[in-house]
Parts: sequence; C-alpha cells; structure tokens
Amino acid sequence: MCKKPIGIFDSGVGGTSIWHEINQLLPNENTIYLADSKNAPYGSKGKDAIIDLSIKNTEYLLNQNCKIIVVACNTATTNAIDYLRKNYPVPFIGIEPAIKPAALQTKTNAIGILATQGTLSSALFSKTASMFSKSVNIIEQVGDGIVDLIETGKLQSPEMKALLTIYLTPLINANIDHLVLGCTHYPYLMPLLLDILPKHVKIIDSGQAVARQTKTVLQQNNLLNTEINTKKNTFLTNGNPKIISTLLKSTYLVETCNF
Ligand code: DGL
Repeated sequence: MCKKPIGIFDSGVGGTSIWHEINQLLPNENTIYLADSKNAPYGSKGKDAIIDLSIKNTEYLLNQNCKIIVVACNTATTNAIDYLRKNYPVPFIGIEPAIKPAALQTKTNAIGILATQGTLSSALFSKTASMFSKSVNIIEQVGDGIVDLIETGKLQSPEMKALLTIYLTPLINANIDHLVLGCTHYPYLMPLLLDILPKHVKIIDSGQAVARQTKTVLQQNNLLNTEINTKKNTFLTNGNPKIISTLLKSTYLVETCNF
C-alpha cells in the first residue's frame, strides 16, 4: 500500500479527460494534476522543446513525491516518454493514438486519426501506423488550433464547429468508419463530433485503457493505495484556473502556481 500521489501532466487542461478515468477506476488514489497551459500547445513545438517541457513537468511532480507519472498527453508521450523512462526512477504511463483497435475493426478499410502535428510527425506514431498502413487506409488530420480554442474557453463555440467541420469533411468523404482521437483535449469535443460525423462512425479514445494500464503497473510495483477515505486531488495550473474548473464540473479547488 502506498499513499504517495499519482502525478499526471499535460500541456494544459486536456489531460483531465484521463484524470477522470483514473479517478473512477482508482478511487483510493491521491493525485496531483499539472496543467502546463502557459506553454500550450505542445503540438506545434519541436521534439527537443517537448522533451524539455516534459522534463520540467516530471521533475516538479517528482519533487511532490509522486510514485508514478502519467503523461496524459499524446504529444509528450510520442516525443518524450522514451527519454523520461531512461532518466527517471519511477514508472511512466503514456498515451498514444489507438490505431490498432480502429485498424482491426474497420469494415470500410479507412480510419481517421485526428492529432497534433507533434504526434503525427513522431517516430513512435510512424512505427505504429506502418504496422497497419498496408492493409488499412489511415488518414491523418492535424488538429491545428483546436487545443488553442479549448485552452481559451471556446470549447462549444461556432469557431470550433467550423474548424472541426473543415478537418472532418475530407475524412468523411474518404469513408472512414472509425475516428481515433489522438489528443487528450479531444474527448471534450464529443458533442460536436457526434453532431458532425455520420452516425456509423465510431469514435475511439484511449482514456479508459490508460487508467487500466495505470492500475496494472501500480499493482505490479506494489504501489496501489488500498486505504479508503483519505483521498486528495490537487490540480495545479500555470494558466487560467477557470478553464480547468469548468471542465472538472465539480468543486475541486484549482491552484495557480509557477512551474
Ligand atoms: N493534450 C495534448 C495531447 O494529447 C495536446 C497537445 C498540445 O498541447 O498541442 O497531444
């Protein structure tokens, strides 16, 4: 049993979609969530800059005594998790676009991946995509501007709907039957996505899988917290706390801090 917190970080507020899944599956665990909104979006930055920001976030969380780090950001995972695993002594859980289930289930042989430039251009993404791209048409779409709109509180805005329509129309025309959400900000777009996409298109996101993997790794390392009723969830942001509070839809206190 280990009361130390799970550390979770993202370029901003999107990783709270992962925090929700972890909180549901592991109700006894203490958590610290770090939203690096000041530096969002990561998706348009180069690999070295993404690694540097991931180091900064990791070291902050390790200084808070975290027992495991969840990189709740596809862009940081696909560019920096190898570096983090080699250089820090705690387990790391990452998230990357769920190409495999979409590729195995498609009936139209066409799947869409909506993700950041940083994720789609990473070696890790290319490696996974190349395992399926001979048999399945994988259509990549960069979601430029989506994270910026979410980070400025324009989740349900006419601008967002217009942007998503531009990005999704070519995918719909290519007859995709699965859309993989390759960014942890995107699950919050679900109402708009359902509105724009044809009914038969299945939307895949990896949040629950990340929570299950977190539980497995905690068990394997004897790090699960089995003590009940002592739970503490801390949310830290270096951006506007209102944005993250709105997404949490609850009374969790969001603290502003410099990191
Ligand atoms: N939530 C991050 C991800 O999963 C957003 C990346 C960004 O800041 O551009 O990729």
